[in-house]
Amino acid sequence: MNCRTIYVANPDRYADGMMNYRQCGVSGIRLPEITLGFWWHFGGINAYEESREKVLYAFDHGITCFDLANNYGPPYGSAEETFGKIYDDDLRSHRHEMVVTTKAGYDMWEGPYGIGSSRKMLMTSLDESLRRMKLDYVDIFYSHRYDGFTPIEETMQALIDIVRSGKALYVGLSNYPADKLAAAAEYLAGQHVHPLIYQGKYNMLVRDIEEKHIALLSKLGIGMTAFSPLAEGLLTDKYLCGVPEGSRAALGHHLQSSAITPLLLAKVKALNEMAVRRGQTLAQMATAWLLSRQSTTSVIVGPRTVAQLADSLGAIRNTRFTGEELIEIDRILSMQL
Ligand SMILES: NC(=O)c1ccc[n+]([C@@H]2O[C@H](COP(=O)([O-])OP(=O)(O)OC[C@H]3O[C@@H](n4cnc5c(N)ncnc54)[C@H](OP(=O)(O)O)[C@@H]3O)[C@@H](O)[C@H]2O)c1
Repeated sequence: MNCRTIYVANPDRYADGMMNYRQCGVSGIRLPEITLGFWWHFGGINAYEESREKVLYAFDHGITCFDLANNYGPPYGSAEETFGKIYDDDLRSHRHEMVVTTKAGYDMWEGPYGIGSSRKMLMTSLDESLRRMKLDYVDIFYSHRYDGFTPIEETMQALIDIVRSGKALYVGLSNYPADKLAAAAEYLAGQHVHPLIYQGKYNMLVRDIEEKHIALLSKLGIGMTAFSPLAEGLLTDKYLCGVPEGSRAALGHHLQSSAITPLLLAKVKALNEMAVRRGQTLAQMATAWLLSRQSTTSVIVGPRTVAQLADSLGAIRNTRFTGEELIEIDRILSMQL
């Protein structure tokens, strides 16, 4: 017997104060300040009902953007399968309210065509992603990275042809060096396709994109979405008293416990004290700090639990920082032992 509850979307999901939506670059589309990311915690190794609960909680709280990639899992492809099942079971009637993204460019399947940013890889991978997600089209298809060898023209022409085929509505770019990003945008503009959005790693501890990308994106009218906003959990209070069981550092899921140094802990402790003074958790303050930047369109969160998602959603309630607070944050981040 199937005892699964029938999902009825929260009628107040677009009520004032639930979520804010920001214009994405110069495009007409607005994205939620918080996007739900599927990198970890939605794969075949995770309990389906827990993944479903998080996705439906997100949708009920105004999150309309869902960020996937071909190889999210583990195993690769399984996060898209999980999404496809939730979509089919619960969200199919809401397709027009959702922005679903996927990407290709990193390793996905064996052999010479299962990795990189070639036309063959991008086109084949997107077809596979659509099949797994049970979708006819994605809203944004990303080139997941500049791979260092495929000519930019080949990758961009593949993206243009994908948009013209109707399999994606918009083009996105991720993990491109600034000069390659500029070259990609120029090629796309020459074919009258505007890159909607750039996805880059951006958090209090990793600020590389402040050097060149942000000014370039602003000049080109491209939106920016920040991934790993909590530095995979380092920008929370969870490691202040050791490495908790089940955490990413404990599991060695990408984040290694060697990242938790005495200097990092000193910074996190000081940031946490500031967050408490602001009436926020550190996760909320780190997310709010990204949202306080005009260049940020959306922050992609990667919660393991519904409670973490609920906590991170609270960030949108206070995204204002005084000048003194911003100076204090920079001082803490530049601390040396
Ligand atoms: N384009 C790219 O190349 C790329 C790369 C990476 C990520 N992304 C996208 O960005 C998304 C987010 O990245 P991420 O998962 O690294 O984000 P993150 O938010 O920096 O890290 C997520 C981890 O932080 C902890 N966490 C999350 N919310 C919390 C809260 N409120 N309180 C306490 N701890 C919390 C959890 O750690 P524990 O599990 O230890 O509790 C969780 O596993 C991905 O899902 C993906 O969609 C894109």
